[in-house]
Amino acid sequence: MNTLTATDNWPEIKAAAEAALPADVIAHIASIAGTDHPESHLIAILHMVQAHTGWLSQAQMEAVAQLAQIPLAKVTGVATFYHYFRLQPRGRHMINVCLGTACYVKGADKISQRLMDDLGIQFGETTKDGMFSLESTRCLGTCGLAPVVMVDETIHGPVTPGEVSVILEKYMKKDKVAAKV
Ligand code: FES
Repeated sequence: MNTLTATDNWPEIKAAAEAALPADVIAHIASIAGTDHPESHLIAILHMVQAHTGWLSQAQMEAVAQLAQIPLAKVTGVATFYHYFRLQPRGRHMINVCLGTACYVKGADKISQRLMDDLGIQFGETTKDGMFSLESTRCLGTCGLAPVVMVDETIHGPVTPGEVSVILEKYMKKDKVAAKV
């Protein structure tokens, strides 16, 4: 028996871990069980988990660590190192600031700073009220409108730092109206 799983309460630990993950992730982890380097599959496993839930919770990372028998520190290390893994739920509105060359030379850094100041969060984070998540992205293909900010599926541009609060308010108002209906 694998010494890492030779524990009296392993069945309970395994059941709890399986409850935290979707069936296809559990099946994928089972398919790599016993391989020499399970950690080489870690990024793919975390992608699968995030594809289901939109982010990685602590419980999910612990479950991956248990089932794949990879140290939790390694799992959280990978999840925090790569910016495309989200460690918080997504907000109701996703804000993507384009940091591609055309947008950057037109002041995307100032737009980014204004968004971070107004929202009180950094890239990769979600506001406490769950309304906005902030991300950066590369060229959105609308360089003629630079600098560009995409909120959900809508492109805004060219955006000035002064217009940031106007754009945010528009989405806040929209949510308030929707909540009343
Ligand atoms: S660089 Fe921002 S849209 Fe192209």
